[in-house]
Amino acid sequence: MNNKAFAIKKVTLSSTAVSIIWEDGKKSVFHFLWLRDNCPTSFHPDTRMRIFNILSVSKDIYPMKIKKGNNSLIIHWSENNHISKYNLKWLRNHCYTNNNSHRTISKHIFWKNNLKSKLNLISFNYKEIIKYEKNFIKWLELLASYGVTIIKNSPTNSNSAFKLLNKIGHHRETFFGTPFEVVSIPKPNNQAYTSDTLSNHSDLPYYEYVPGYQFLHCLKNTAKGGNSTIVDGFSIANYIKKNEKEIFNILTNTEVKFKDNDYTQKSLRIFYSPIIKLNLEKNFDEIRINLGAMATLDINSNKMKRFYEAYRFFYSLLQNKKYLVKFRLSKGDLLCFDNRRVLHGRTSFDAHSGNRHLQGYYIEREEIISKLNYFNKTMI
Ligand code: OGA
Ligand code: ZN
Repeated sequence: MNNKAFAIKKVTLSSTAVSIIWEDGKKSVFHFLWLRDNCPTSFHPDTRMRIFNILSVSKDIYPMKIKKGNNSLIIHWSENNHISKYNLKWLRNHCYTNNNSHRTISKHIFWKNNLKSKLNLISFNYKEIIKYEKNFIKWLELLASYGVTIIKNSPTNSNSAFKLLNKIGHHRETFFGTPFEVVSIPKPNNQAYTSDTLSNHSDLPYYEYVPGYQFLHCLKNTAKGGNSTIVDGFSIANYIKKNEKEIFNILTNTEVKFKDNDYTQKSLRIFYSPIIKLNLEKNFDEIRINLGAMATLDINSNKMKRFYEAYRFFYSLLQNKKYLVKFRLSKGDLLCFDNRRVLHGRTSFDAHSGNRHLQGYYIEREEIISKLNYFNKTMI
């Protein structure tokens, strides 16, 4: 926005709100209670938390006097002899008349198998991210919009991906520990710890709050097989939304039972969730699917047949070559993806033909988003 956006052309009052016409021609309406609530004195200077109590004024509070100051708007309120001084740039940036839906505009870029030819677009060099803030931010932005990135040439000593996670924020702990060791072992407590094929899935769907991002750090990959697969669950959900309304309806409205009761656990984790979860704005919030962790279903009898049809349809698209991206992780690669959007898997491997060792970490979406907010802090 240019300077005209932050200069007032005209101020008018209605019985409930102050209207501003800005020099760039745009109009904003600010309600009295909103203005009083957001007086700069309402916030503690250090905690930046609101200290003003909304009940300390009546619902009928109104501006007795209003005038333009130097880059500011000054309001003398009808109650408590209070005067508020608003910075114009702040007011315009917080205008909720036109741009009240920043948060609801999805920044997701959907992809299909065409991502395979653009892997360089989402690939980064470890050192560049660690060293230069600009690259670190760009990487986080791409991670949030594509839901997947690959970082090349990272160090391969054990636990070394913590350095990158700590640069973002706190990791998410789970009963698998951090990092979890993705190797083929006897008596595994998860299918990931075998050499079997893993069809595309989200990890830990039996948690109420499924871990947001997953980082799979490849320390060794010399075994035969064990190639990686990913699909964009949002892209598939979007196709279904547009073309298969009945199926979309079932997948967004049927609560599916997920569970973990592996032999090492003294807990029985159960959670019910639809496979496609929408937020209030009907944007995609989460895809939750994992054949291995789906419990014995107890969906309403008159819905079961239709559910299985919808589930099979969705599951078949997760393996469909129109959507699937297949590649091989090399030593030093760090595959980062949104575990609540991008479904991941691998082909089976021959554990006796070489070594395959990945270390896995989880970190919440909010850690990534909060970091990005911090760097683009125009709206605080
Ligand atoms: C997992 C997983 C994929 C792989 O550990 O959750 O899906 O490539 N691993 O081994
Ligand atoms: Zn997994």
